[in-house]
Amino acid sequence: MRVLVTGASGWIGSAVVPELIGAGHRVTALARSDASAAAVAAAGAEAVRGSLDDLDVLRDAAAAAEGVIHLAYKHDVAFEQGDPPAAAAADRRAVEVLGEALAGSGRPLVLASGTAGVAPGRVLTERDARDAAAVARAHEGPNGRLGTAVHALGLADRGVRPSVVRLPPTVHGAGDRGFVAVLVGAARASGVAGYLGDGGNRWPAVHRDDAARLFRLALEDAPAASVLHAVADEGVPLRAVAEAIGTRLGVPAASIAPEDAPGHFGFLAQLVGADIPASSALTRELLDWEPTGPTLLEDLAAGRYTA
Ligand SMILES: NC(=O)c1ccc[n+]([C@@H]2O[C@H](COP(=O)([O-])OP(=O)(O)OC[C@H]3O[C@@H](n4cnc5c(N)ncnc54)[C@H](OP(=O)(O)O)[C@@H]3O)[C@@H](O)[C@H]2O)c1
Repeated sequence: MRVLVTGASGWIGSAVVPELIGAGHRVTALARSDASAAAVAAAGAEAVRGSLDDLDVLRDAAAAAEGVIHLAYKHDVAFEQGDPPAAAAADRRAVEVLGEALAGSGRPLVLASGTAGVAPGRVLTERDARDAAAVARAHEGPNGRLGTAVHALGLADRGVRPSVVRLPPTVHGAGDRGFVAVLVGAARASGVAGYLGDGGNRWPAVHRDDAARLFRLALEDAPAASVLHAVADEGVPLRAVAEAIGTRLGVPAASIAPEDAPGHFGFLAQLVGADIPASSALTRELLDWEPTGPTLLEDLAAGRYTA
């Protein structure tokens, strides 16, 4: 299949591209800079120059493809510029354009989304948050990320084969600069590997290579309007994460007082205390996907975040 991948130069995209090429697909990759174009070309993809705001480029590239995997996201706008609504709005526009380009073709559109915050305090399943009412219950407007995922699922009615892959807050592995790396940085800076409360709250997790394989399976086989969970560990207690970090760094693991959390964890202060486990039982059954990579605690114990 000729596959358009957005975000191919990113953390997950740089695993998805070799996964696709290894399975015999050809990859066209959206690249917004010379550096990203060079990176995707080195990985064996054909670069198409453009950003998420270049809607004509997106439309043409999607129309020329036999399937699309959409991974690009304006994390710089959301996190560094502190404007998550602007990042979500740009994503929504991009998904709308990709959907229009694929309408009536029956071709797959695979969208990255997240498990965090959808149904805190209980185990999230693939059946959750599939419609506008659920988005409203999650206190999110229709133009937030959940709303965009619901929009994408609705493209099934317009002759697209959409699927949404929800990723846990940590897609881990050697070279990850995401949330676990931020926790390690906070532990290094403060001399304490922190958690909140008793640290019993859980995060799901997946190894990057297992997530990449699920994106390929979704492209190839997911029925229209599938919600898939790229979840290997259903819920890792944050205290265990902190202890693993502390062991590697030689610093104590300890509970951080709520008033000290913003100073210790920075922008992660809200999420560190969240209890957000997620199941992938339905995904495993539907696509015969079985994670094989190391667990998050194994990656930490092996020093992949602390070397
Ligand atoms: N990693 C996780 O733990 C995790 C968890 C939940 C959800 N997700 C979601 O999974 C997807 C992939 O995440 P990731 O970790 O691979 O992200 P990442 O490493 O930050 O990569 C983001 C990708 O998007 C591209 N991009 C950013 N802004 C762009 C723009 N304006 N125009 C075109 N491309 C742009 C980047 O290009 P450059 O290389 O040029 O910067 C890069 O290829 C995202 O939707 C993310 O929100 C990830």
